[in-house]
Amino acid sequence: MRGTFLREFLRDPFTVAAIAPSSASLATVITSPVPREGAPVVVELGPGTGAFTAAVQHRLTGRGHHLAVEVNERFARPLAARYPRLDVAVADARHLREVLADRGHQRADVIVSGLPWVAFAPHRQDDLLDAVTGVLAPGGVFTTFGYTFSRWASPARRLRGSLNDRFEEVVTGRTVWANLPPAFVYFCRRPRVPALSPA
Ligand SMILES: C[S@@+](CC[C@H](N)C(=O)[O-])C[C@H]1O[C@@H](n2cnc3c(N)ncnc32)[C@H](O)[C@@H]1O
Repeated sequence: MRGTFLREFLRDPFTVAAIAPSSASLATVITSPVPREGAPVVVELGPGTGAFTAAVQHRLTGRGHHLAVEVNERFARPLAARYPRLDVAVADARHLREVLADRGHQRADVIVSGLPWVAFAPHRQDDLLDAVTGVLAPGGVFTTFGYTFSRWASPARRLRGSLNDRFEEVVTGRTVWANLPPAFVYFCRRPRVPALSPA
């Protein structure tokens, strides 16, 4: 897994933007809003080698719909092979609304992001966050992570401001030390942009 990750990082550092997959500890924290009951629609953005995928699958135990949206086919193909219940779309997360609609869904109950926000230009961050708030159910939860060491760097501060603009509630989780590098999770609730607004 680490070999694949590093190889893809070297191939396209600005899309992968990390040299190692996230840890199981971070996966446990970032997927914690996935409900243990019901049949939720859970979307994972940028699953890479599947660091969060296993945790989502574990929480869902076969319920609901787990959609992973990954732009890199070399990550997507092995994931689809490893998790028969996972629906993998090879697509840019900016097109989340269309990807969900193709599957007969208009909303997602939980969106878990592995996207490398700090590697994105401002307009790209905005497009991706708009894609998230455009489909998140009013009672839904969006989680995403950042690295503690770069928390106060300008792209990370910009992200935090954009989250505040788009969600009524943004809660920062505790530092997950058992991750390389140490990381933290944002738990975002109550999107300010009305879900299902016209594209
Ligand atoms: C930092 S890696 C994280 C992988 C995994 N979630 C983890 O935490 O180990 C970022 C992932 O996002 C994917 N990615 C980057 N931009 C994307 C986009 N616009 N749409 C979908 N996936 C994207 C990359 O291909 C890569 O798999």
